[in-house]
Amino acid sequence: MAMCRMIFLRRFSSISSNPLRVCVVGSGPAGFYTAEKMLKRHEAAQVDIIDRLPMPFGLVRSGVAPDHPETKIVVNQFSRVCHHERCSFFGNVMLGSSLSLPELRSLYHAVVLAYGAESDRSLGIPGEDLSGIHSAREFVWWYNGHPDCRNLELYLKNTQKVVILGQGNVALDVARILLRPTVELATTDIANHALATLQESSIRKVYLVGRRGPAQAACTAKELREVLGIKDLYVGISESDLLKTPADEEELKNDRIRRRVYELLSKAATSNQSSPRSDQHELHFVFFHKPDRFLDDGHGHVTAVRLEKTALRGNGSGKQIAIGTGEFQDIECEMVLKSIGYKSVPVDGLPFDHQAGVVPNVRGRVLCDTSGESAIEEGLYVCGWLKRGPTGIIATNLYCAEETVVSISEDIDRGVLVPSLPKPGRDGLLQLLDDRNVRVVPFSNWEKIDSEERRLGSLRNKPREKLATWDELLRASDTNQLC
Ligand SMILES: Cc1cc2nc3c(=O)[nH]c(=O)nc-3n(C[C@H](O)[C@H](O)[C@H](O)COP(=O)(O)OP(=O)(O)OC[C@H]3O[C@@H](n4cnc5c(N)ncnc54)[C@H](O)[C@@H]3O)c2cc1C
Ligand SMILES: NC(=O)c1ccc[n+]([C@@H]2O[C@H](COP(=O)([O-])OP(=O)(O)OC[C@H]3O[C@@H](n4cnc5c(N)ncnc54)[C@H](OP(=O)(O)O)[C@@H]3O)[C@@H](O)[C@H]2O)c1
Repeated sequence: MAMCRMIFLRRFSSISSNPLRVCVVGSGPAGFYTAEKMLKRHEAAQVDIIDRLPMPFGLVRSGVAPDHPETKIVVNQFSRVCHHERCSFFGNVMLGSSLSLPELRSLYHAVVLAYGAESDRSLGIPGEDLSGIHSAREFVWWYNGHPDCRNLELYLKNTQKVVILGQGNVALDVARILLRPTVELATTDIANHALATLQESSIRKVYLVGRRGPAQAACTAKELREVLGIKDLYVGISESDLLKTPADEEELKNDRIRRRVYELLSKAATSNQSSPRSDQHELHFVFFHKPDRFLDDGHGHVTAVRLEKTALRGNGSGKQIAIGTGEFQDIECEMVLKSIGYKSVPVDGLPFDHQAGVVPNVRGRVLCDTSGESAIEEGLYVCGWLKRGPTGIIATNLYCAEETVVSISEDIDRGVLVPSLPKPGRDGLLQLLDDRNVRVVPFSNWEKIDSEERRLGSLRNKPREKLATWDELLRASDTNQLC
């Protein structure tokens, strides 16, 4: 065992005697762009990326829809970062349980937190805990083979109507996965358990509920076009919802994306057949309604969503908000997916703005608290959804990482970060994890998982068959081979 540890430590030991030791927590787009930029900008930087999962890539693997393979090509670029001689990836290492934030900070000159948003906003309305109600995050993790949602209980065989709350791109993704013919999903990297469940689904109607109108729908045109284009789908949009107020006109005037979305919805409303055929799947856009409560079937399962009709009011910011009108309507359903946004969670010892759901920061430098005049936590930085909140596409994190890396560079120049001050870095991290018997999964062992998934996928004409339990993943990663 001691010999194993020595080989392990030597294999990952530093290549420069006094490098700037940086640890990035989280291997999603924010983490990888940060690592890439640090390596480019600082020739003496040694960057370690840790992730709580045995595999890298964050939401590129567990968020991006299986029928969007082109979006996932970015993992090739991220993999090149991991092969860089001054970079290492250590999976199966969770900040907050494998080691604490103070411990990590003591090992590195700079720690960049890029661990995303792994919880959900809640509605805070009665019935939210009934069975049959899930967050879109859980559902997405389920179909993308995230090991934490492998066993999500979904009874699609007995489900005919689904209500999706929210009209952002995640809502559109989940609606598409529920409604798209499974024969089209069968050759994607969708998790096998999800495909099998969807194949026996009885879902006929999906409602996409937005508290505001078609001029404010939070999705983008490409994603909307895709869901509207599903084969043999009846799309229900009430033409009266499309009437624009002067305030809508004003909002649309300044927003090209919203204009395009509004045009697509208008076109769909007018070009569709007047009523669905009995054998057709249906997608209904329900605008100007907000969830008020969930109704129970008497056995703890959701049976309907009560919605309150809304009207839009200006709030002075140029953005109209939805106000309840006191008029209610129930939509019967057997399943609800809440797609109202993700939420970050703090680890112990991390300043956190609970209101905004982000780490308080100035251009990526973590502040000691949320008061406007707070001091800076030296050597602690943040990037991605944890820094900005849960919005933005993959590329948004590139600019976000650039800002954080510029702040780190400025702090080196100003002497706030002192690379010549020795820090244990990678060796210290691996020693600590070894002492705690944490089974670290380095990048080479992720590559074993990757090979196995590709091999299994090739048997089913899929790009990969994701291993979707912790046990399968750790077995395939076969860390013992390191010794
Ligand atoms: C369902 C969905 C679909 C999307 N589809 C697209 C798309 O098609 N195109 C597009 O451009 N954008 C898409 N996006 C947006 C894009 O995925 C995000 O902008 C991006 O992933 C955010 O990057 P991040 O690095 O901040 O977080 P994440 O990608 O979530 O990465 C965070 C990483 O931190 C790790 N982690 C969490 N907690 C810990 C911890 N305590 N210790 C160690 N590691 C931890 C996680 O395992 C994860 O690997 C989608 C988002 C969602 C939710
Ligand atoms: N293909 C892609 O490029 C892709 C795919 C998926 C995700 N993404 C990106 O990932 C990010 C996250 O997407 P998302 O869909 O989770 O978030 P989002 O775009 O912020 O959409 C959230 C939706 O929830 C609604 N909502 C929020 N709080 C609510 C409440 N209390 N009651 C009722 N409705 C509420 C919002 O309505 P209001 O508008 O009224 O607030 C909005 O419709 C986005 O930037 C998205 O573009 C991109």
